[in-house]
Amino acid sequence: MKRNHEPSHNITRDKQETQRGRVGAKREKDCMKAENEITIINGDCFAVMKTMPDKSVDMVFTSPPHNRKRNDKYEEYEDTVEDYFTFLKDAITESIRVSRGHVIFNIQKNYYNKSELFRIMGHFHDKIVEVIIWEKSNPMPAAGKAITNAYEFFIVFGDGAMKSNTTYTKNVITTAVNSSMPKEHKAVMKQDVADWFIEKFTKDGDIVLDPFFGLGTTGAAALKYGRKCIGIELSSAYCDMARAIIHVEK
Ligand SMILES: C[S@@+](CC[C@H](N)C(=O)[O-])C[C@H]1O[C@@H](n2cnc3c(N)ncnc32)[C@H](O)[C@@H]1O
Repeated sequence: MKRNHEPSHNITRDKQETQRGRVGAKREKDCMKAENEITIINGDCFAVMKTMPDKSVDMVFTSPPHNRKRNDKYEEYEDTVEDYFTFLKDAITESIRVSRGHVIFNIQKNYYNKSELFRIMGHFHDKIVEVIIWEKSNPMPAAGKAITNAYEFFIVFGDGAMKSNTTYTKNVITTAVNSSMPKEHKAVMKQDVADWFIEKFTKDGDIVLDPFFGLGTTGAAALKYGRKCIGIELSSAYCDMARAIIHVEK
């Protein structure tokens, strides 16, 4: 049965079938040894994560599609999921399964996703250990007297309190937003935000999984702080761009 959050393009599915075979065979070897390396996998994260053993990474840090229902967002993903609740629930459930530590999902509330996002928070109420707010110092102003959307959630799932590597870590981080995005990808995470999370909440040599890798901001942060990273991304073009940005060999 087709899952309603499965990508709709045949081209993508063909690529994924090829990837699943390749990934299935190499998966454990590549990812679990992960010696000081960034591993980028072109495929559907739902299929790839299925091949990963329980508790095989130290943290999941990711920014899933925000379901803004705009077709200009991603190369191979329309961001128009009918059942966004199930899409997120499945991604979070698999992430919790494969992680020994916390799972952090960055989600921006918007007009289209807010009801399903609040449902997700209710569904996982006993697994949410923290909500960290990214406050944007220079958000795009809303029209007229409408409320300007000036924050994004970083929802932390797991068991046990979250501990920082430094003292006086607040659950709010304030930075400017990216002043420009590459024309190929309109939802790249701000590098200093990813850096803040990786530096504070992971340790030297940890393996961080990002199942919605995009252009690899999580990988760049991991590399900067001596962590290992596994990134999964549907678009082969984004994988190539991420490899170029982070200087990862194919
Ligand atoms: C919000 S963007 C992530 C951006 C990333 N954090 C960065 O800084 O570049 C979400 C990404 O998820 C990818 N994506 C969507 N569905 C996917 C799936 N099922 N498996 C893997 N990647 C997927 C999209 O192509 C998009 O690049």
